[in-house]
Amino acid sequence: MRKQLVIGIMNGTSLDGIDFVLTEIHKPLSSKQKPKAKFHAEKNFSFPAEMKSQLARAARHELQVKDLARLHHDLGRFYAECYKKLPPAFKKAKLIGLHGQTVYHEAPRATLQIGESSYLSTVSGKTVISDFRSADLSLGGQGAPIATLFHEKILAGNLKTKSRVAIHNLGGISNLSLISKKGVLLSFDTGPANMLLDLYIQSRTHGETAYDHSGERASKGKIQEPLLRQMLNHTYFKQAPPKSCGREEFGESFLNQFKPNLVNLDLEDALCTLTELTATTIAEAYKRYAKPLPEAIIFCGGGAHNLFLLKRIQAQLPNIKIQTTLDLGWPVSSIEGAAFALLAAYRFWEIPSNYPKTTGAKAPALLGKITKSIR
Ligand SMILES: Nc1ncnc2c1ncn2[C@@H]1O[C@H](COP(=O)(O)OP(=O)(O)O)[C@@H](O)[C@H]1O
Ligand SMILES: [Mg+2]
Repeated sequence: MRKQLVIGIMNGTSLDGIDFVLTEIHKPLSSKQKPKAKFHAEKNFSFPAEMKSQLARAARHELQVKDLARLHHDLGRFYAECYKKLPPAFKKAKLIGLHGQTVYHEAPRATLQIGESSYLSTVSGKTVISDFRSADLSLGGQGAPIATLFHEKILAGNLKTKSRVAIHNLGGISNLSLISKKGVLLSFDTGPANMLLDLYIQSRTHGETAYDHSGERASKGKIQEPLLRQMLNHTYFKQAPPKSCGREEFGESFLNQFKPNLVNLDLEDALCTLTELTATTIAEAYKRYAKPLPEAIIFCGGGAHNLFLLKRIQAQLPNIKIQTTLDLGWPVSSIEGAAFALLAAYRFWEIPSNYPKTTGAKAPALLGKITKSIR
């Protein structure tokens, strides 16, 4: 089969919900050719409140085995429930790529994505590919980043000889892939994107406001320079890539460390300072590790809706063109889901899809495990 409709499903560290992305994928006809992909549709589902709070607890490593096992199956059933509510166009897909919810990541020792795939396979009658990271770990890799395939093959497309672009995901965490004609040069997590902003506004508004829409509130605040400097002292920002981070580094414990300074601030000033932390650590990551600087940064992920954040990044990197994936026909919230649709197609075609140079694996690997339905 040359052309395939594939559903990719992603729920990231932000716990803002599940993105289902319907993608049309064309198989490369030779190893020299690139695959093609086209965005068809997306649908987002929020987690039921109880499940969200259990997922947050799981991510903080607070659950007992019994509760984690239950959550693994509850989430699996929830994927299947969401599937039933998808618009009819989605049902034409033959294949599903399911990332699952990361609840633990300590690469290369262990990684765990939960959300049992059997329910989705049974309800949809389709083949589901999941557990995309373990095969890379088995070869000594980090199992991350793995959206690199989509970034390079689909988004960076046909670059001119000398050009360099970055694909930059602003989820809970901020991650970049620097790409030239020769392929992926570098890919790593720069630090927080939205996670600290979300946690802070949620705690100050007692859960009423989930995030700072467009960065409007932060844009009304003032940067608290001494606090910003203290936050920038975190050792993670001083490490050279390859490196990856998560809620462990930039979640509740990071905010708690600065709580005495943060609680006394106006909400706007605190958000402004946290936004500046994200913008500065992103700009510094480019200046230190991505020289010569790329001509353009193409942003994706929910943080690409944060216009104030993009403005602050542009202010610190004035010579780089700032774009979003929407300029290429992909809604910013569709990229991670579409990346797992592409990875599922590669597994189905039995083509390796990790990038040993960026994950640190010893060899190429087929990523993902297959769950087939009898229907
Ligand atoms: N309109 C918006 N304005 C500002 N931030 C937004 C907007 N929409 C989404 N976000 C941010 O993006 C986050 C979700 O991004 P996402 O790419 O789904 O991250 P993850 O992969 O971690 O789930 C939200 O929690 C929020 O912080
Ligand atoms: Mg999300």
